[in-house]
Amino acid sequence: MNEEDYNPIIEIENLSFAYKSDNWIIKDANFTVNKGEILGIAGPSGIGKTTLFYILKGIIPHSIRGKLEGSVTINGLNIKKLKISTIARSVGMVFQNLNAQLFSNTVKEEIEFGLKNLKMDPSLAIQAMKKLKIEDLSDKSPMNLSAGQKQRVILASIMALNPNILILDEPAVYLDPPNKMRLLRWLTELNQGEKTTILIASNDPWLIGELCDKILFFNHNSIEKVSKKEIMYEKTSWRWSYL
Ligand SMILES: Nc1ncnc2c1ncn2[C@@H]1O[C@H](COP(=O)(O)OP(=O)(O)OP(=O)(O)O)[C@@H](O)[C@H]1O
Ligand SMILES: [Mg+2]
Repeated sequence: MNEEDYNPIIEIENLSFAYKSDNWIIKDANFTVNKGEILGIAGPSGIGKTTLFYILKGIIPHSIRGKLEGSVTINGLNIKKLKISTIARSVGMVFQNLNAQLFSNTVKEEIEFGLKNLKMDPSLAIQAMKKLKIEDLSDKSPMNLSAGQKQRVILASIMALNPNILILDEPAVYLDPPNKMRLLRWLTELNQGEKTTILIASNDPWLIGELCDKILFFNHNSIEKVSKKEIMYEKTSWRWSYL
């Protein structure tokens, strides 16, 4: 996408959030995400990356309360006023905690669940399972899978929904190199083919470096959107060796 193109799908203005009293996790953040952008999210552990994703998914303030100030819009609509079920139609999220999102009896049912919930065709589950190479796990219980297998089941369950905005919170922690490559290819394809907007938090510099031109960099006083090049040369604490 051209630098000059301005076609925001997410707009954040003066966003601040505290889970408790005045313990601000996010303070006065301002940034936009354009349609079709792939944005990396980086910063040290405990800085607020998952918290930001909870806000974009509507979990904050709908399920987790706290002090939320400023404005967050998705497709021009204020997230505070949208129902969580409406947000679910455009925002798909792969959560960091693997066990928090696996609850069905079988892998196939797990992937069909989201589709049925959004009144989509359950047979789309097969396609997603093929893409993530988990057809052979179809009848297994998700709870009994290895971490890497669980991660692929979760990716398939979100991918099947084909959301406009895809949020991935540390999606590759348990993936082996071939599956990491597959994830990279799949995300690139989704972005190019479906024009999916992708936000990906990862402490894996390789994945972020391969995928993203822009990175939202969290540090203790601010959140700033910087180009990959800038972060490579200036943020000495955050480099990747492959570039
Ligand atoms: N439900 C909650 N209630 C109170 N505080 C919370 C809650 N969830 C997270 N926090 C706190 O908010 C801060 C930011 O946490 P968050 O999970 O957003 O960090 P993160 O950047 O995603 O970290 P990591 O890289 O380890 O995943 C941390 O200090 C954490 O302890
Ligand atoms: Mg996190």
